[in-house]
Amino acid sequence: KGDPRLKAISDAITVVPHFPKPGIMFQDITTLVSNHKVFKHTVEIFVDRYRDMDISVVAGVEARGFMFAPSIALGIGAKFIPLRKPGKLPGEVISEAYELEYGKDRLEMHVGAVKPGERALVIDDLVATGGTLSAAIRLLGELPNLCLRLHIVYDLLLQTYCGYCDSGWLERNGAEVVECACVIGLPELKERRLLNGKPLYVLVEPR
Ligand code: PRP
Repeated sequence: KGDPRLKAISDAITVVPHFPKPGIMFQDITTLVSNHKVFKHTVEIFVDRYRDMDISVVAGVEARGFMFAPSIALGIGAKFIPLRKPGKLPGEVISEAYELEYGKDRLEMHVGAVKPGERALVIDDLVATGGTLSAAIRLLGELPNLCLRLHIVYDLLLQTYCGYCDSGWLERNGAEVVECACVIGLPELKERRLLNGKPLYVLVEPR
């Protein structure tokens, strides 16, 4: 907590009121990543935390998670996999929907991008409701290929319950998500309720 790098990180984020719409205090990280020293410190904090945790996959969430996840993957010797918005990945994908303030969105991952049992870390720039990270956790936990198809009926049953359960039910024995990590996190989410029971690590709170 007393780490001076955290204050520098917080100070390097620009708060833009009423963007992209009235009432939103937008957390602009472009000023963080354009500050070489602060950007380096940000990546170093994550690399120091995760380098000895036997993590083989760092999954980054499009688009702003892509600014941090590849550097962290390289730093800890893991592979980077992109979790993308719909229609961007050319191969066969699995897909997870999540709620937005207005409407729904989806994240997609290539089938076979992770192997069952691999230990994964999910990286994004910011967590607000936790909806995006929860979708990422569910995606990584999916069974690949044939197993996935065989589980369609099972999955449909689980979907029925997804509104009620927030730990474990939606994970289907794919990769094991060790933790989710973001640069910025709303203080209310410290209890991790919405992240399927997975730990959440954040560096700073929104200003
Ligand atoms: C932002 C942010 C996170 C997500 C957090 O992404 O980068 O991915 O919202 O919100 P949540 O915790 O309520 O789900 P956005 O959808 O704006 O996409 P972008 O990164 O492509 O700009």
